Amino acid sequence: MNKKANQGRALITGASTGIGATYADRLAARGYDLVLVARDAARLEKVAQEIKARYGVQVEILPADLINKDELLRVEQRLRSDDGITMLVNNAGMAVQGKLIEADIDRYDTMIQLNVVAVTRLAAAAATTFGKRGSGDIINVASVLALAPEMFNGVYSGTKAYVLNLSQSMQTELAPLGVRVQAVLPGATRTEIWERSGGSISQLPPEMLMEVDAMVDAALAGLDLGEAVTIPSLPQAADWNAFTAARHALGPNLSRNQPAQRYLAHAG
Ligand SMILES: NC(=O)c1ccc[n+]([C@@H]2O[C@H](COP(=O)([O-])OP(=O)(O)OC[C@H]3O[C@@H](n4cnc5c(N)ncnc54)[C@H](OP(=O)(O)O)[C@@H]3O)[C@@H](O)[C@H]2O)c1
Repeated sequence: MNKKANQGRALITGASTGIGATYADRLAARGYDLVLVARDAARLEKVAQEIKARYGVQVEILPADLINKDELLRVEQRLRSDDGITMLVNNAGMAVQGKLIEADIDRYDTMIQLNVVAVTRLAAAAATTFGKRGSGDIINVASVLALAPEMFNGVYSGTKAYVLNLSQSMQTELAPLGVRVQAVLPGATRTEIWERSGGSISQLPPEMLMEVDAMVDAALAGLDLGEAVTIPSLPQAADWNAFTAARHALGPNLSRNQPAQRYLAHAG
């Protein structure tokens, strides 16, 4: 047992396995008490017992299906009312394999509810509580597919582009209130998400696949370094900075009182 100074409570969604369970382990090691959210109560309880035994922190489970409105509201309410919560890891998410024209549209709908609607409502609840207090960290787990819509179906990558967009807007809004917001953009990471989505992890080239421990440790290192956006795989931070600078350079020309010359010329 290795008890560190108490950091408050971290509420982690999707904490029963994969990236969320790994955040739970690492944040407990850093001295956080935990509130663990996912649907599978038995798995959550197992994660909780292991972490309590290993680190001696307090771990509570809060089973909830985040696409069920009443259960989502319970988690939201916890974030709005519990001033002891100092961090939200907004991680629960799902993927759906396949092309838009062949898709089970109801699966896409469920994915949007989880990856977009639940993430937004939980982010807003934490932002309100943390903003009032003037401190707190919100980690939103997006994906590198936010930057690469050609690599997977556009609905999953679109939900992750939404999370990146939301995070960047939240950074602007919340930094003056003392709240940190980090977007984490993992590449392919070895978890159950691949099998759950109807795909297979074995189809991935091994050089593209990161182990979950390494991914989460890098993401937390990015948080410690004060990064607003962390891409664990990206070798050169300068490449992200150049991408951001190119996007900002568009800014002054994105809204003007005249169409561009090429359209005026074409329209005659
Ligand atoms: N693994 C990757 O390659 C990768 C890459 C980029 C981004 N990401 C993102 O990372 C996040 C975590 O993914 P992962 O790879 O760790 O996936 P995972 O192993 O499939 O774990 C997903 C977690 O979310 C929970 N969850 C799923 N549906 C839920 C629901 N309706 N309500 C509440 N909890 C729910 C699951 O628990 P229950 O089943 O118990 O509910 C589980 O704890 C996701 O947002 C994903 O999009 C993953």
